Amino acid sequence: MTMKNPDQLIIFDTTLRDGEQSAGAAMSAADKLKIALQLERLRADVIEAGFPAASDGDFGAVRNIAAHVRESVVCGLARANDNDIRRAGEAVQKAARPRVHTFIATSPIHMEKKLGMKPDEVLKRAVRAVRLAREFCDDVEFSPEDAGRSEEDFLCEILEATIDAGATTVNMPEQFGGLIRRLRERVANAERAVFSVHCHNDLGCAVANSLAAIMNGARQVECTINGIGERAGNTSLEEVVMAVRTRPDFFPCDSRIDSRQLVPSSKLVASVTGFPVQPNKAVVGVNAFAHESGIHQDGVLKHKETYEIMRAEDVGWSSNTLRLGKLSGRNAFRTRLAELGVEFQDEEALNAAFAKFKALADKKRDIYDDDLLAIASGGENGDSEGWHLESFSSSTEMGGRPRAKVAARLNGKVREAEADGDGQVDAAFRAVEKIADSGATLSLFSIRNITGGSDAQGEVAVRLEKDGAQATGHGADTDIVVASVRAYLNALSRLDSAAARAHPQRQV
Ligand code: KIV
Ligand code: ZN
Repeated sequence: MTMKNPDQLIIFDTTLRDGEQSAGAAMSAADKLKIALQLERLRADVIEAGFPAASDGDFGAVRNIAAHVRESVVCGLARANDNDIRRAGEAVQKAARPRVHTFIATSPIHMEKKLGMKPDEVLKRAVRAVRLAREFCDDVEFSPEDAGRSEEDFLCEILEATIDAGATTVNMPEQFGGLIRRLRERVANAERAVFSVHCHNDLGCAVANSLAAIMNGARQVECTINGIGERAGNTSLEEVVMAVRTRPDFFPCDSRIDSRQLVPSSKLVASVTGFPVQPNKAVVGVNAFAHESGIHQDGVLKHKETYEIMRAEDVGWSSNTLRLGKLSGRNAFRTRLAELGVEFQDEEALNAAFAKFKALADKKRDIYDDDLLAIASGGENGDSEGWHLESFSSSTEMGGRPRAKVAARLNGKVREAEADGDGQVDAAFRAVEKIADSGATLSLFSIRNITGGSDAQGEVAVRLEKDGAQATGHGADTDIVVASVRAYLNALSRLDSAAARAHPQRQV
């Protein structure tokens, strides 16, 4: 992407790369593709799809995304060495709009202690990396890692050299305002590249720093959905996008993001990663538009804009209206999901989801859009291969020890087991383990209610780990213990394929 339109803010989404580096947020290749397609619907300009040299699994996931995404630029990250650049270049080869993003540390502490290199070697390495990346595509980004602690003179020198070598975007990880302005003034060929910022949230300032950088001439922001990412996370895409859009009087540019896709994107990423969004999170938290105090409610009733600087529906909060019921047909079901942006791969997938919808409609009187989205997002009943829950029962009594009985099917064979435990979920998981004997460790268990009301579906995420591989499974049901068993079985089914793609420790 060589466009340097001063009015346009380029949104570079790194949910699938830096976001996945959030401790415990591994995503399957299928989940990554689902998120990439949602990011395309959101109109993210650039999707950083992964770090292809990190593992064969990452390479495959980036290549798969590159083959499916048509509108957004698909980017692969690479350290500044030949092997990484070639892997990234090959992985994005099929993309309609490919980009390679290469980086090397430029701060004295990183160069000396981490790389064991002198500044002139680092500069040569960076220039060679950008030149090699240009052999794969015309769109190349260079990041001087740890720019915040780098010498300004050296930064100017390396940025100028990499722009001369063909970098079309230069990115300042963890930097802001004044420095961006000075670099744009001091780098002689600055006009030939887009200046970008990549901030982490260690002090809760990632969004603030990104906005300061935009005010000082940066025209690309690297960010993630829900702000997930390494350590305390990255700049939150939804916050930066809405800050810029609601204050056109202040910011000299705007993004192309379709803001009505922000909440659906947030929900998808929360569901895939099992990281719930805090209720008070700006824009996408459930309380973001909830007015609790009398004074606020009074103001909003009189005139919405007294306390609402943006409209809930403009960021994708649907009125969540009741759409379908017990008597609705397959066509109405398919049509409503298409309106919500969900297309089924084939008739078989549609039929499986429709059967789940009918089963839910038998138990739950009111079915909302979010219920439909949970059904469509798969989980244990959505995957055709692996474990399936056949039956479940449990008994519990206050003061007693709960007992659960589970029957599950794998490859046509049904197995049954019973167990007791510290609570119904624990008893159920122990019964499943008796059947599957996986020996996996449970590293995450989270529940969220999909809609309101005591008959709401609970959506459960379960992450299992074994021998360095990890997999997250999902399950939804009006009974949260059944949802938990479904999620556990789904995670077990995914653990085998995850073992094959377990990747070595990242070095970013
Ligand atoms: O945080 C960081 O320094 C990075 C770079 C690779 C851009 O993620
Ligand atoms: Zn980062």
